[in-house]
Amino acid sequence: MTPSDVKATLSFSDGSPNMDLPIYKGTVGPDVIDIRKLYGQTGKFTYDPGFLSTASCNSTITYIDGDKGELLYRGYPIEQLAVGCDYMETCHLLLYGDLPNAEQKASFTARVTNHTMVNEQMQFFLRGFRRDAHPMAVLTGLVGALSAFYHDSTDINNPEHREIAAIRLIAKMPTLVAMAYKYTVGQPYIYPKNDLSYAGNFMRMMFATPCEEYKVSPVIERALDRIFILHADHEQNASTSTVRLCGSSGTNPFAAIAAGVACLWGPAHGGANEACLNMLGDIQKMGGVAKVGEFMNQVKDKNSGVKLMGFGHRVYKNYDPRAKLMRETCYEVLNELGLQNDPLFKLAMELEKIALEDDYFVARKLYPNVDFYSGIVQRAIGIPVPLFTAIFALARTVGWIAQLNEMIGDPEYKIGRPRQLFVGSPTRDVKPIGQR
Ligand code: CMC
Repeated sequence: MTPSDVKATLSFSDGSPNMDLPIYKGTVGPDVIDIRKLYGQTGKFTYDPGFLSTASCNSTITYIDGDKGELLYRGYPIEQLAVGCDYMETCHLLLYGDLPNAEQKASFTARVTNHTMVNEQMQFFLRGFRRDAHPMAVLTGLVGALSAFYHDSTDINNPEHREIAAIRLIAKMPTLVAMAYKYTVGQPYIYPKNDLSYAGNFMRMMFATPCEEYKVSPVIERALDRIFILHADHEQNASTSTVRLCGSSGTNPFAAIAAGVACLWGPAHGGANEACLNMLGDIQKMGGVAKVGEFMNQVKDKNSGVKLMGFGHRVYKNYDPRAKLMRETCYEVLNELGLQNDPLFKLAMELEKIALEDDYFVARKLYPNVDFYSGIVQRAIGIPVPLFTAIFALARTVGWIAQLNEMIGDPEYKIGRPRQLFVGSPTRDVKPIGQR
């Protein structure tokens, strides 16, 4: 971290001594004020629920400028990666710091491809779930269970274990997500086929059956690969911070990633793509495009508890660059499949139009986020709505691992342990039950 010449001085109105706080500069983005000695010197904590102003770590992986609508993986703009690279190259970039050359790409892809199968016992583990279980419930369990199957890669402090766990997780996530799907529809699992691309193999495991081969359309394969690239990492979001916090206790990588999957499930985070599609379905049932105005009034009414899912972002206050790319893919896929007149798509476009012009959204800088479009694309290519967030988890796994490995390799890393402002009862005595 590069120290700044500027120092911050904290002063108190009760005459307590001032405290100088060092400032560090990033390569781009806001500087940070180092408050690590604050408690030791003043006996006070900082208060920042939701981490609105808190940098929890230093990182070299992903950079977001929310005002400019910029997203960089290791310095490369997402727009260039989405057009010029595939997901395997993106994984290499996030994990090892740079884009691979042709030889490195071939060797990395071969390593991942070697690990696409899961232990055969996994299918018996799956059988313990109800057939109608939510795929994210199943996936949280399956990913956590990997630590019970791969004992040779559970030591988070061993770089070789971390490396093999990383490759295994990236390789096995598509297999696990497809298995979770096949289980819910009662079809046999389809084993991975290693001469297909990462996205193509996933599509086949999802949609082939033992009696009918699935032919992967190149447009769809590319669309899915783009979904994977756009979701691969996103800086210190809720699930990534969860993975870091979980891993900071020294737990194994599979357990830490399972924690990330669980966090991602929430509708304010990765669950938004599913919530967005369900919202579109609800408006459709209310009467479709004709009812958009009525629905928007509910969204703007603070007491209704209704949100426009797929809109708004904690960091992007201009536009979400991933949404722009996903919107393009959305049009490509719907054209390829002849679904331009799909009623839900039309409804989504109407919502988007109204929201972009409405004062409520304009004043609050609320724009469509990636999930607004990714749900429409996934539905068009036949992925069932409850599986959307599992696909987000599949794609984000590489980001979680890269962030986890970065944390473990950081000499400043400590177990994460936030403090609190206690506002409950001070000490009191327990009375015998008859006197309470
Ligand atoms: N619909 C209606 N109002 C909204 C929405 C929305 N989707 N998002 C924010 N607002 C309002 C919010 O009520 C608040 O209004 P006011 O200032 O009058 O109180 C204002 O906009 C600022 O919102 P906030 O809740 O302070 O913003 P936040 O940074 O805490 O929340 C968010 C960000 C993503 C959780 C939120 O925008 C949201 O719930 N959006 C819908 C869910 C969604 O699409 N999530 C996916 C995020 S992108 C994928 C990912 O990274 O996981």
